[in-house]
Amino acid sequence: MSRAFVTRRIPDAGLDLLRRHLEVILNEEDRPVTRQELLQGVSQVDGVLCLLTDRIDGEVMEAARSVKGFANFAVGFDNLDIPEATRRGLPLSNTPGVLTDATAEMAWTLLFAVARRIVESDAVMRSGRWPGWGPLQFIGGDVTGRTLGVVGAGRIGQAFALKSRGFGMPVLYADERPNETLEKELGARRVDLETLLRESDFVSVHVPLMPATRHLVDARALRLMKRNAYLINTSRGPVVDEKALVDALREGVIAGAGLDVYEDEPRMAPGLAELTNAVLAPHTASATKSSRDGMALTAARNLVAMMAGERAPDCLNPQVYDRR
Ligand code: DGY
Repeated sequence: MSRAFVTRRIPDAGLDLLRRHLEVILNEEDRPVTRQELLQGVSQVDGVLCLLTDRIDGEVMEAARSVKGFANFAVGFDNLDIPEATRRGLPLSNTPGVLTDATAEMAWTLLFAVARRIVESDAVMRSGRWPGWGPLQFIGGDVTGRTLGVVGAGRIGQAFALKSRGFGMPVLYADERPNETLEKELGARRVDLETLLRESDFVSVHVPLMPATRHLVDARALRLMKRNAYLINTSRGPVVDEKALVDALREGVIAGAGLDVYEDEPRMAPGLAELTNAVLAPHTASATKSSRDGMALTAARNLVAMMAGERAPDCLNPQVYDRR
């Protein structure tokens, strides 16, 4: 029976599927594997189910002598060296589709939480220091009718934007490609990033991390935003220059930020944790039961296909099959 290495426990839906087809070697500890454990683990198996916390680069692929493919338990794939895998004829896959709504919902959760100062309010209620209702307490930002800026109108950006329907928000989006659905359904306007930053009251980031998007939101971009605007990031931490964001939040360059992702996880930029105008979630945008089960099943299906020598349904580098 072929052997698969699963680098950390995932929901049973995926493990059960894998075990029906393969012998599973599982890192039983609820922590990412160390580099050494990763290199050793991949050297003993025929396929790998890896996580966004595992860097799958040339060194790992070199150690993975018998491996027929890597199935990533994430829709993001910045932890995978795709050109290197393609050069080696190794298929890679991700988990698109199953976490779209959960991630879009998290962006809205952060948007409301930061605009309406929910975390600060919660802290006061728990502290026993709330003196009772007051006309000047916890005044936040309006949402209805305000302009929504969506950076990256792919699957998740689109789902996020469509959920604005109940709030009557003019929608701007920045993307390399026009999004007909957003234009037709919402009358959304495609603009360049600079215009979006200048005109939006809420800027939500939904681009993949790649060289062109690293620090897409930097100090200059933050200064282009309105002083009463909010930044939401559920994509990847390095898309935002986190140190610049801390400065901007501290100096009132923008009103607030809602973050699910960080530049150097699990660490945060110095000062971020002390800011009351930042709402911080621990990279949990996809953490709903159905999304995580869906991710586990999707990754498992891809791995089973790869190991059977079949085309992985969510292959990131389908060129590897053309050469066969
Ligand atoms: C992803 O899938 O890329 C998320 O960041 C984790 O679910």
